[in-house]
Amino acid sequence: MKILGIESSCDETAAAVVEDGKAVLSNIIASQIDEHKLYGGVVPEIASRRHCENIYTVAENALSEANCTLNDIDAVAVTYAPGLIGALLVGVSFAKGLAMDTGLPLVPVHHISGHIAANYISNPNLEPPYLALVVSGGHSHIIEVLDYTEYRIVGRTRDDAAGECFDKVARTIGYPYPGGKSVDEASKRGDPDAYILPHPNVAGNEYDFSFSGLKTAVINLVHNASQRGETVNCDDLCASFQKTISEILVSKTIKAAYDLGYKTIAVSGGVSANSGVRSLLSSECNKNGFEFFCPELKYCGDNGAMIASQGYFDFLAGKRADESLNAVATLPITEIY
Ligand code: KG4
Ligand code: ZN
Repeated sequence: MKILGIESSCDETAAAVVEDGKAVLSNIIASQIDEHKLYGGVVPEIASRRHCENIYTVAENALSEANCTLNDIDAVAVTYAPGLIGALLVGVSFAKGLAMDTGLPLVPVHHISGHIAANYISNPNLEPPYLALVVSGGHSHIIEVLDYTEYRIVGRTRDDAAGECFDKVARTIGYPYPGGKSVDEASKRGDPDAYILPHPNVAGNEYDFSFSGLKTAVINLVHNASQRGETVNCDDLCASFQKTISEILVSKTIKAAYDLGYKTIAVSGGVSANSGVRSLLSSECNKNGFEFFCPELKYCGDNGAMIASQGYFDFLAGKRADESLNAVATLPITEIY
């Protein structure tokens, strides 16, 4: 079964054709990052306009690269939540039009479940149940993946998402948006023990995250140094920050796996491309006898393949939408269609 997946929740216009949830036949991404970089972050109005301009060509290229026409496609899957509302609406409207015109089934996909499904593409042997750590620019969640379409949220961020924290630290240091990757690169040259940074104390749910204190500590360190005329070693600061945030993410995930009886952990989302997060989670899983999964780097960030993959599982579960489908800016993964 071939699914055309459409993704436009933030600043990538993406479309892909995936067969049976795992075999990627094409994966086209039109990134807007170079334009948003000029403003230090995503400008929602610009994002919507660029999605409108790009979506037709991106979808057409996804079909042609997969050697398909719409006649070969069995369903259209689209990200309908969560994300920037104007951006989501472009993908949703396009997918609705396509489904209505062709008579193909329309499958609404939750963006976070799409990130989770990226692991099925890169690791075809992975099967639920397992514990997922989803870390992106907008989300930081520990999630029980009970089945391909059934989830329970174990922990989530109380404030900034992990990717947001990477990006704000990067901006403070002077790297362009989105700076997560630049922090990762700088970390490889730095000493992770050069600066001692705080681990947050989160009252209540012990699996919840809070990154605003860590972010503020880095910002204060940089500003105080500049007021005193001292220089900060950026490579050392990035390495120390990356080590700290990796420890926070990994220690809570491993603890949750122990407490809930999971022996398999899968990380995904844009921040799962981070070398520190990947290597620490992988080594802690090894140490504890857990199986560890992560997507290939090209499926960590937003893409259409992960939406087509999850669209396949949602289709099998009977999820369908009609022309009344709307985009939703905020929606927990446990309240999906
Ligand atoms: O999943 P994604 O593409 O979009 C959202 O759903 O938010 O994640 C984007 C985030 C950005 O914050 C970006 O800086 C971060 O992922 N990111 C990284 C790395 N690559 C991307 N953060 C840390 N290290 C990386 N190598
Ligand atoms: Zn995402």
